[in-house]
Amino acid sequence: MHFDTVIHDGTIITATETFRGDIGISGGRIIALAERLAGGERRIDAGGRLVLPGGIETHAHIAQESSGGVLTADDYLSGSVSAAFGGNSSFIPFAAQHRGQSIDHVIETCGARARRSVIDYSWHLIVSDPTPEVLEDQLPRAFARGITSFKVFMTYDLMNIGDGGMLDILTVAKAHGAITMVHAENNDMVKWMNRRLAEQGLTAPKYHAISRPELAEEEAINRAVSLARLVNAPLFIVHVSTAGGAAIVQREKLAGTRLFAETCPQYLALTRQDLDRPGMEGAKFMCSPPLRDAATQEALWQHIRAGTFDCVSSDHAPYRFDESGKFSAGRDVAYPKIANGMPGIAARLPYLFSEGVMKGRITANQFVALSATNAARTFGMKRKGSIAPGMDGDIAIWNPEARRKVTLADQHDNMDYTPFEGMELTGAPELVMNRGAVIVEKGALRAAEGQGRFVPRAPADLTARPGHIAKELDPAQNFGAPIAARSGGPA
Ligand code: URP
Ligand code: ZN
Ligand code: ZN
Repeated sequence: MHFDTVIHDGTIITATETFRGDIGISGGRIIALAERLAGGERRIDAGGRLVLPGGIETHAHIAQESSGGVLTADDYLSGSVSAAFGGNSSFIPFAAQHRGQSIDHVIETCGARARRSVIDYSWHLIVSDPTPEVLEDQLPRAFARGITSFKVFMTYDLMNIGDGGMLDILTVAKAHGAITMVHAENNDMVKWMNRRLAEQGLTAPKYHAISRPELAEEEAINRAVSLARLVNAPLFIVHVSTAGGAAIVQREKLAGTRLFAETCPQYLALTRQDLDRPGMEGAKFMCSPPLRDAATQEALWQHIRAGTFDCVSSDHAPYRFDESGKFSAGRDVAYPKIANGMPGIAARLPYLFSEGVMKGRITANQFVALSATNAARTFGMKRKGSIAPGMDGDIAIWNPEARRKVTLADQHDNMDYTPFEGMELTGAPELVMNRGAVIVEKGALRAAEGQGRFVPRAPADLTARPGHIAKELDPAQNFGAPIAARSGGPA
């Protein structure tokens, strides 16, 4: 057998297995796994280090305009380079529709921007304007191109599509095999809190955390789940930040609901106290939903360990600490005018590995599931997320003993700060491959701009998530009303 590359003597870890052996790669794909493989034009000696599937980052805002018109600091080159240094071989940033835009235009724009990527990519479509043309023509066309996830917002005035709009998206998505993702926060609760805080002159960044209560997330998750259950459509809750929200996800998973969820490292590593730093420093830690408290961190770790979350994603939303980003509306503005989001695409996996695997909170197999395998299954990346014959040669070799302090320079992004600055982490990716090509090695980038490829995706894997049929949508129980006909029935 001819191999372009043999990775020799690795501790190979998948979501279910751990074994010592060699991996043979040819034509960008894994073609053999064995205790020992001879040959290989290039032999990489792993020396027993951990050989994992390359990470799949499923929540990243790259070259994306916010509804307020602020462009993220990372484009597809810097964002993908940062992801690669963080142990990722592919990512799925958002392609955001703003009101009045056609989905085709959004995809063309993102297609042109993504040509610079050094890792493989797809997009989740953000839908903020679900007109009949969008629902009936444009989303099905996007789906046919292999874009099989649509994201909606329950908050932000310019993005929130309301419960009816969400039911429309859920129904169309389900009819085509797509999964709907949701940012779940109760918009009116947040606006009410904003008004009360403003009336009292409480405008510092720390009040951002107060303005978005835990109950706003919990209520919205509960409502999103009810909407999805009504039409029995798959739903993915992004960036769960509360114990109550996680408990709803756990309850629904027990019930067999077609539900998926993620949390993010910032909710494990930081708290609302970080927003209470001198001057405007707290703005660096403003994201939505906001950072919570130590008890929440503990609860989220418990849910990670127990399998409530399918993914731990970064929600990389890089806005620099200057007028191009956080302060695009001015330096001394009230918190509602400061851009929401923080960077973390390079820190996601080192943080999860160090705090999760090295501290015994999760196994290395769980780490693989949370960082790559579940993402591939949920978002239809059939040839990614595991190490097996036929899979893409997307691999990261990790040194579990490497110790380092997080620095901005190590993030390799286009940012001027990292919220994880100074944290001591153990374990780091030392070599990263995408489709058999080494893209990061010995701290250096080996990839060429634009070598990443678009990955057309399949529908979500709903195995073992039977879902529910709402009585009122079941023609056998609703006097034959064909309410769910457009979605192909409630099953
Ligand atoms: O605060 C965040 N996460 N900003 C990015 C946009 C979003 O809400 O996902
Ligand atoms: Zn969000
Ligand atoms: Zn986000």
